[in-house]
Amino acid sequence: MAAEIWSETEEFLSGLLCPPDPDLARTVHVSEQADLPAINISALQGKQLSLLAKMAGARRILEVGSLAGYSALWLAKALPPDGRMVTIENNPVHAVVAADNIRAAGLADRVEVRVGNAAEQLALLVAEQADPFDFFFIDADQHNNVTYFEGCLRLSRPGSVIVFDNAVRSGEVRNLETSNGAVRATQRVLELVSGSDRVDGVVFQTVGRRGHDGMLVVRVR
Ligand SMILES: C[S@@+](CC[C@H](N)C(=O)[O-])C[C@H]1O[C@@H](n2cnc3c(N)ncnc32)[C@H](O)[C@@H]1O
Repeated sequence: MAAEIWSETEEFLSGLLCPPDPDLARTVHVSEQADLPAINISALQGKQLSLLAKMAGARRILEVGSLAGYSALWLAKALPPDGRMVTIENNPVHAVVAADNIRAAGLADRVEVRVGNAAEQLALLVAEQADPFDFFFIDADQHNNVTYFEGCLRLSRPGSVIVFDNAVRSGEVRNLETSNGAVRATQRVLELVSGSDRVDGVVFQTVGRRGHDGMLVVRVR
């Protein structure tokens, strides 16, 4: 019963707050046609990221985990015209689909799809002395979230925002005995955030079509 209410409420709110967008619709369609897993964020989550990025005044965005480019499009559309975004994807098939969708949306001039392992790509960006990013979205292999957190911090500036998807996982995050490596990594990131003078953070819990989850939102002091 609760799941039905969550799902219907998500549909209602999306209908009100997420007007149809042909680029996003195309991305979902192409992703289905290419048989990619349907594990992209929801429209409401996309809107949430887009507003957070705008509130942070983001001009440079870094994403880990592109899949077909759905969340990348939400974020790229939140950038000013001279903004820049890098999205990292290690699966070459996913990366091609993402790059096609970004091109079709006319955003290829501001979004670079980097193909490769995210830990290596983050280290490469540090080595390249990339300008700091204002906003990060981490949505890949979660057991590596501690590495991604550390990489993002090195690529951040005071005021940067780092968002992690799937920070709640039906409440599994509170299970300190869990053997799930993804959840354990999220717990470790939460510990690092809670014990840090350098960052502050909060988790926005969400419910919807895919159940109970949440995003960890961290701000670099
Ligand atoms: C949940 S999906 C991303 C969904 C996307 N953010 C969206 O909402 O549209 C996770 C993606 O991360 C990629 N991925 C997994 N491990 C990775 C790694 N070590 N380096 C880079 N990408 C990785 C997967 O291939 C997959 O496409």
